[in-house]
Amino acid sequence: MKQKIALVTGANRGIGYEVCRQLAEAGHFVIMGSRSISKGLEAAEHLRSLHLDVEALELDVSNTRHIKNAYTYIKTKYGHLDILVNNAGVFLEGGDPTHPELGSALRANPKTMAKIFDINTLGPFKLCQTFIPLMKEKNSGTIVNVSSEMGALNEIGAFWPGYRISKLALNGLTKILAAELLGTDIKINSVSPGWVKTSMGGPNAPRDLTLGAKSIVKLALIDKSGPTGGFFLDGEAIPF
Ligand SMILES: NC(=O)c1ccc[n+]([C@@H]2O[C@H](COP(=O)([O-])OP(=O)(O)OC[C@H]3O[C@@H](n4cnc5c(N)ncnc54)[C@H](OP(=O)(O)O)[C@@H]3O)[C@@H](O)[C@H]2O)c1
Repeated sequence: MKQKIALVTGANRGIGYEVCRQLAEAGHFVIMGSRSISKGLEAAEHLRSLHLDVEALELDVSNTRHIKNAYTYIKTKYGHLDILVNNAGVFLEGGDPTHPELGSALRANPKTMAKIFDINTLGPFKLCQTFIPLMKEKNSGTIVNVSSEMGALNEIGAFWPGYRISKLALNGLTKILAAELLGTDIKINSVSPGWVKTSMGGPNAPRDLTLGAKSIVKLALIDKSGPTGGFFLDGEAIPF
């Protein structure tokens, strides 16, 4: 098997960290993008102690300079990127499921919504704009936008408008780019990890990290005959 080069954002903890572990365990080289380089180095050190092939890279997805630096670093050192997992995300609207009214659209702060959008939607947008040209040089690559059923138009309901709209827009981005990339071997899909026990998902989530990350890794490792422009959970297509 050919070793692939993967970049995962929000890799220092939660689902992103487990995605890195699973990709590296499958034999790939993983660049662990982390907005705090010290947390990233610590996470990478932990995976390296398990004999996994990873390294840390400072990457705040809302920082355009970090994204440019990541491009220059990867292009110079490796010459290409096979896999981009846009995992970094925030939920800033009061996630207490026993008090959902705290996340009511009627009291949502537009500044908070803009911050969520900057990280959850514009971050992946800028990373795609930056790295797709590099993938085009080899006419090959796989992008996973880590989304949520909370942003599926099909399921959208009350509360948490910033988070929901950020993922709805992210799904839109997936479809736009997939349409623009038709005819190439670059595949881009949205994936839901399901409701996972993490700092964001909370302790009542039914799924563990392994399962949540597996849903993402499955689509990250598709080949050129794989799907594009879809929305997936556990490898099965789900409605947008
Ligand atoms: N957990 C769930 O049930 C669930 C369900 C559906 C979708 N998701 C999606 O899955 C992804 C991962 O979620 P999670 O549950 O693992 O969340 P998490 O445990 O809160 O971890 C979030 C990760 O994103 C990073 N991050 C936040 N802002 C960033 C920025 N500006 N630049 C770079 N990294 C940033 C965090 O870094 P710091 O350590 O520096 O804060 C952390 O590494 C998110 O996109 C989330 O929306 C999660």
